[in-house]
Amino acid sequence: MVEWWRDAVIYQIYPRSFQDSDGDGIGDLKGITQRLDHVAGLGVDAIWLSPIFTSPMKDMGYDVSDYTDIDPLFGTLADFDALVARAHELGLKVIIDQVISHSSDKHPWFAESRQSRDNPRADWYVWADPNPDGTPPNNWPSVFGGPAWEWEPRRRQYYLHNFLIEQPDLNMHNPAVQDTLLETMRFWLERGVDGFRLDTVNYYFHDAQLRDNPPNPDHTGPETYGFQRHVHSKNRPENIGFLKRMRALTDEYDARMMVGEVGDGGQTAIDIMAEYTAGNDRLHMCYSFEMLSPEFTAAHFRRCIEGVQKGAPDGHSCWSFSNHDVIRHVTRWQDHAGNPDALARQAAAMLLSFPGTICLYQGEELGQTETELVYEELTDPPALRFWPEVRGRDGCRTPMVWDADAPNAGFTTADPWLPVKAPQASRAVTIQQADNDSVLAAYRAILSFRKSQPALRWGQTEFPDLPEPVLAFRRTHEGTSLTCVFNLSASPEQLTVTGDTVLSGPSHASLSAGRLVLPANGFAWLSGNIDLQA
Ligand code: NOJ
Ligand code: MG
Repeated sequence: MVEWWRDAVIYQIYPRSFQDSDGDGIGDLKGITQRLDHVAGLGVDAIWLSPIFTSPMKDMGYDVSDYTDIDPLFGTLADFDALVARAHELGLKVIIDQVISHSSDKHPWFAESRQSRDNPRADWYVWADPNPDGTPPNNWPSVFGGPAWEWEPRRRQYYLHNFLIEQPDLNMHNPAVQDTLLETMRFWLERGVDGFRLDTVNYYFHDAQLRDNPPNPDHTGPETYGFQRHVHSKNRPENIGFLKRMRALTDEYDARMMVGEVGDGGQTAIDIMAEYTAGNDRLHMCYSFEMLSPEFTAAHFRRCIEGVQKGAPDGHSCWSFSNHDVIRHVTRWQDHAGNPDALARQAAAMLLSFPGTICLYQGEELGQTETELVYEELTDPPALRFWPEVRGRDGCRTPMVWDADAPNAGFTTADPWLPVKAPQASRAVTIQQADNDSVLAAYRAILSFRKSQPALRWGQTEFPDLPEPVLAFRRTHEGTSLTCVFNLSASPEQLTVTGDTVLSGPSHASLSAGRLVLPANGFAWLSGNIDLQA
């Protein structure tokens, strides 16, 4: 039997912004449970919950202070069990976010570690002496700006934080740290979760000798992180051994999976995805930010897919166009759009035709756009620090819009933690539900088409050579072929088709006498074994 996750569509829920049930302006677990029918009704297979664990929320839950409890903002362990039970009843798997590369600085482990150089947890984080002139031990920068080292006067040492100062890196070179983290994962496996999204999986290890990173000659951009090639502060070969331990743990249970988030870019990201998913004893799959970038060309999408195929023929990828860290794709790619809805439909058609596992981000099924915010509305630390050059991630994290007629579009009766603005509310579920031509209706139709096509779910993928702006690829499974064609531009395109074929599924194109006409952001699925020419 093919493992369930190989062709799964996973719906990412950002718990703070999905549904508030207790009137505090912040989404919570009970709210999610109430809204699961909407998710199941789309025809997806699983949900991924961004972090829900006890946290001071400096990085909105990506700073965990108790790995085996729920933050009171979100509810209780009993609420979590109820959520999992309801999801399973609806046929949805549940994946949680494990953030184990770093903890919160308020985690009791760190509180103890920072006290002295000889306490029982002295070596649980990455501590280093200063240089003779008092400066940090090496040149490593934090992703969120400034050095990756913070001074601790009690130990007269620095600690490593790849992200915020409040997110100290755990020391994975210490076997006791590995053992303890694996036990926290077991806690959730025993509770019935179906898998883990592994935050920043390529940051788990650092170079034990703390060597300086070399410069990156290609760097442009306003942020400091890109000035280096991060060969010593992440992507370390030692990580493979720990990934194998995690796999051995999940393999003790039935049908569980792990998807690693690779925080890197370009060919390096593709290479790491391949390396971490090769064979059967590492991660089940990886995802990277490659398709979360501003690039919207056929060559780019082809390079991502072929890169993983060539790098790890037996590996597995997971692709997404939006998440809680990047500008929503309808806004990010707007220069390539006839109109936002056409782009939203095309993105759905394209993403759901790609090989591998697919992640959708809450609101994307509504064609949701990025929310414009002013400085006073921001909560995201890098934006607060570097505004306006760094816009931050609040604009893609604003609340889900359910009901156009209710306050805050039905998200909360209180003041929401981030505002619900008119352009977003105008895309509410109640409005689109009533419209057969809505983006929401298109998502449902495309998801159901994907389910009905073994070639889309499990097929091999090959790319014919066609000039921009057309992306085309053929998916083949057990003798059945489907050719997927996309016009990645705001002007119409035509192609010549040779061979016996018909337009399948909810295609947005026309075919007659061997001419395929794709309108702006058009898309087509063509049955049979055919040939395409510009
Ligand atoms: C990646 C997460 O997606 C992001 O939201 C977070 O800030 C960093 N990892 C640090 O945990
Ligand atoms: Mg609440």
